[in-house]
Parts: sequence; structure tokens; C-alpha cells
Amino acid sequence: MATVLAIETSCDETAVAIVKNRHVLSSIVSSQIAIHQKYGGVVPEVASRQHVEIVNGAIAQALEAANLGWSDIDGIAGTCAPGLVGALLVGLTAAKTLAMLHQKPFIGVHHLEGHIYASYLSDPTLQPPFLCLLVSGGHTSLIYVKDCGHYEVLGQTRDDAAGEAFDKVSRLLNLGYPGGPIIDRLASEGNPRAFPLPEGQISLPEGGYHPYDSSFSGLKTAVLRLTQKLQQNGEPLPIADLAASFQATVAKSLTKRAIACARDYGLDAIAIGGGVAANRGLRQHLQAAAEKHNLRVLFPPMQFCTDNAAMIACAAAEHLERGHTSSLTLGAQSRLSLKEVMTLYDKAI
Ligand code: KG4
Ligand code: ZN
Repeated sequence: MATVLAIETSCDETAVAIVKNRHVLSSIVSSQIAIHQKYGGVVPEVASRQHVEIVNGAIAQALEAANLGWSDIDGIAGTCAPGLVGALLVGLTAAKTLAMLHQKPFIGVHHLEGHIYASYLSDPTLQPPFLCLLVSGGHTSLIYVKDCGHYEVLGQTRDDAAGEAFDKVSRLLNLGYPGGPIIDRLASEGNPRAFPLPEGQISLPEGGYHPYDSSFSGLKTAVLRLTQKLQQNGEPLPIADLAASFQATVAKSLTKRAIACARDYGLDAIAIGGGVAANRGLRQHLQAAAEKHNLRVLFPPMQFCTDNAAMIACAAAEHLERGHTSSLTLGAQSRLSLKEVMTLYDKAI
């Protein structure tokens, strides 16, 4: 299998990694969280400038940590969509320039495909078809992975993404950004049954609820109302119990939909991807439910749940193996659906 160097700069992490045979030879992730923290979210222009400062050093570091030279690299990949265009352009331009300079194939990668294949890094034997529960800051989707490059989205959120809900609840409880890891930590000290919270449901016109689509904005509002009520009573906020109750509701909602979807489509493995895959409440809940239904669940190694370049290299290697390479004229796109992944490649089989 090919040795691929990948660059990921779609949001606020500058990342470079080298992956061979679904094994990570090196992975450099430089997070800009500290820089954006004072604004309470990512500032696109600041992110782009920071990527420019850091990307060349990160590429050199990745090669050095893997103890490899350019002659050992079979392909060079860069995330090209979706994401912040200015930020994407930095990594994409670096990848294309290096591919031209060293005469290597260039592979443009869809960021979400990276999250889908992050589970290959914990189980290199995993093969499609499988179901992917993708839960990040911008997405909450149930994806039927038919083959590399061929996906069907079976369910998604109708409003906030799961990670976005963690970030918003953290902000309303004045806990900081990004909210996921903070709530995860606090939840471990709280009672998940302290406050019953509503799990968002999407009603169907013919009655009943959509089995795979989710909604998190009502849950966020319920936490807000509950917090206001507790504050009016002059009581100190039971932050750990609130965090635990919120997290348990999200975990329950995602688990229910993922299990139903896998069973309905006859898929025996569920791979989880995206920042929220790091959540301990979700991991425990899903693992326990999957065991009951004889389903296999795969989580990426902790450090490859949030944005990184190892998952991008992993996805790129799958494409390269199938002969899919991209043109050096490929541009950055802020939006691109998973259905359009194959438009990134010149040579599609
Ligand atoms: O995949 P990711 O790094 O970036 C996107 O592509 O969106 O996901 C970031 C999201 C943030 O919303 C963050 O709060 C959430 O993942 N997150 C978590 C945890 N770690 C990160 N959410 C819940 N529990 C965690 N441990
Ligand atoms: Zn991501």
C-alpha cells in the first residue's frame, strides 16, 4: 500500500501526517484553539494567516518524525473541501506545489471522507460496506459507506450539529470553547439522570418520527430554560449534573438512530468519526447498545477523532490505490456534498 503525505488546513488545525498501510508513521497537529478562544469561535482570516506561518515547518517535522525523505513518498494529499476557503487554500496549495516539485501524484480529499476513514487507524482490516456515524462541529450524519468514493447519506441533523450543540451549551453555561472536551470532563463527575431533557425528534407528515434524522436545537434551548430557572431560584448551578444530563441525552439520541439504521440496512459495523467520537459518554453508550445487537462499533484512536491529517492521508491512500488522482488545477470549495466526491478525481474507475 502507498505511503501518503497529507496536509489538512480546513479549519483551525494545521496538520501534516504520513500514513502507510493504514498505519501512522508521523502526525503533526498544531492547534490554533488558544488563538481563537478569546473570540469564542474560529475567525477565518486569522486561521488562514496562522496556517501560512506554520505549514512549512509542520511538513518538515512530519518527514523528520517518520524518518523519511521525498523519495519514500508515493503521493501527496491535501484537503480541498469543505471548509473555510482561505484556510483550505493554504494546505491545498502547499500539497499541489510539492506534488509538482517532486513529481508525485496529487490527491485532493473531502474532509468528511477523512473522518469516515479515521476508524481504519484503529482497525486496518475494516472494509466497506459499513455505516459511519459522523459527528463533528459542522455535521451529524449517518452515512452508508458502499465503497471508497461512494456514499449515501441516510440521516442528518435538521438544525445544530452534535459538536455545535456541545459548543453552544458550553457557552451558555460559561464554560469556554470548544465545549465538547469541557462538558465531557465535567459530565464524568455528574449524574446523567439528574435532569430529564427532551431528545429532539423530527415528525413525519404521515405520523411518527424520522428514524435517522436528528435535531439538537430544542435540547440546547431546554438546557437554557432549565439554567434560567435554576438561576432564578438563586441556587448555585449544578454544572456537572447539567453537563452529564445533556451529554447522556445526546449519546442516547445518536445511539438510537445509528443502531436502527445499521439494523435496517443489514450493516454489521458502525464506524464513528468526527470530534464528538472522542466523547466518553457516547463511546460507552454506543458500545453497550451495539453489543446487545451483535454489531461492531469502531472508534478512531482518541487523537484522530478531532481534525488531523492522518485521516486525510488514509482516505487519500484508498483513492490512490484505486487509481484516483486529482488535477493540479483542483480548487478549494467551501461546500461539497459527499455525493460529489468523485468529481475531485480525473481518473475514476
Ligand atoms: O471534527 P472536528 O475536530 O472539527 C470539525 O470538522 O467540525 O470536531 C470539532 C467538534 C467541536 O464541536 C468540539 O466541541 C467537539 O468536536 N468535540 C467533542 C469532544 N471533543 C471534541 N464533543 C464532545 N466530547 C468530546 N470529548
Ligand atoms: Zn473535522
